[in-house]
Amino acid sequence: RPKTVYTGKKVLVTAGGTRERIDPVRFITNDSSGKMGYALATELVARGADVTLISAPTKLAAPTGTHVVPVTTTEELAEAVTTHFPKADILVMAAAVADFRPKTSVTQKIKKTSDNDEMTLSLVKTTDILKTAATLKRPGQLTVGFAAETQNLIANATKKLTSKALDLLIANDVSQPGVGFNGDTNQVTILSKNKAPVTTALVSKTAVAGIIVDELERLVDSKEG
Ligand code: PMT
Repeated sequence: RPKTVYTGKKVLVTAGGTRERIDPVRFITNDSSGKMGYALATELVARGADVTLISAPTKLAAPTGTHVVPVTTTEELAEAVTTHFPKADILVMAAAVADFRPKTSVTQKIKKTSDNDEMTLSLVKTTDILKTAATLKRPGQLTVGFAAETQNLIANATKKLTSKALDLLIANDVSQPGVGFNGDTNQVTILSKNKAPVTTALVSKTAVAGIIVDELERLVDSKEG
């Protein structure tokens, strides 16, 4: 394999949608298939990186050459990132992470009762994993986040770039057909601190992964001077 800037680099990629249990038979999740994160892991392996893929539940087979760490909940994902990030050169957070989880975990199936036409589920905020990573980040480490938005794509994504101290932010407008969750295609705008945004065409997630990894390469190069 030809040498690239990724040769020997340890890259931590997260993918899939986290699940938060309501009771033994029900959970809250989202539409993530894991395809975007798996495409990134595959592309990074092809370029010589040593990839650890922290995967929330998906139907996908593990990409060849990755070390897969399976997780289910946001707290498990947070713990896995906290464990593996200190040894990594780059973190790519493509996972769709629950922002809230049920406040109490119930061990028995919740029953419907004849006197109750409504039920209220109390939710509490989960750990913001990228914010935690920002506090652990040491010089030389790069962090890449995503923003799944349905409105004000660039404004919301720019806020996430800054508040989560990211080197790259991949924004997808998931209200557009063929963009974001589940399908085989995506269209993203790649934001970074010192460069004009790069918007891709609507192309396969494999092709989008290639473009993201190209943009990241520029940052790896500049970190190494
Ligand atoms: O999996 P696919 O079906 O291929 O779909 C791809 C995708 C739409 C899931 C992917 O392209 C994507 O946008 N992933 C991020 C989804 C998301 O959680 O976006 P967000 O805007 O809610 O979160 C912003 C960033 O913070 C993300 O990098 C997220 O991983 C991270 N986050 C979110 C919540 C949380 N508690 N901790 C986090 O670190």
